[in-house]
Amino acid sequence: MRNRVAVLHGVNLDMLGRRDPGHYGSLSLSELEVQVHRFARELGLEPRFFQTNHEGEFCSELHAVADYADALLLNPGAWTHYSWAIRDALEVSGLPAVEVHLSAVDEREEWRRVSVIRELCLATVQGKGVEGYRDALGLAHEHLAKAAR
Ligand code: DQA
Repeated sequence: MRNRVAVLHGVNLDMLGRRDPGHYGSLSLSELEVQVHRFARELGLEPRFFQTNHEGEFCSELHAVADYADALLLNPGAWTHYSWAIRDALEVSGLPAVEVHLSAVDEREEWRRVSVIRELCLATVQGKGVEGYRDALGLAHEHLAKAAR
């Protein structure tokens, strides 16, 4: 089974630990990545992490990601809600993707309820904090296992 999963974080996710803990918890991004790495290994998945605050860099990463990954978890932060460029770059990647948000975006402000990437994703996991990444990895694993049959 193909087992390489890229975990891509977008704008302001490097500020985890300094953002509202009520929405985002208290882990820093590197602490979150340690946990997500552990969740992935428990499922036999090989994770690789990326974060940027630059939209074009996020798009370039999506252009290249199929060279090193078989599936994607992506949390583009606020870009989720309006970046058609990221939506198009995700389509270029051609990879199965799960949209992840730490907070419950569908229960927050009106503008956060819009996701321009959702239609391209296998599923969206939101409002479960770091545990949501475990669920998202489970969904990616299920998809890769089915594809291998
Ligand atoms: C977020 C939700 C977005 O609305 C917000 O802009 C973020 C983080 C989340 O993980 O809950 O930066 O994607």
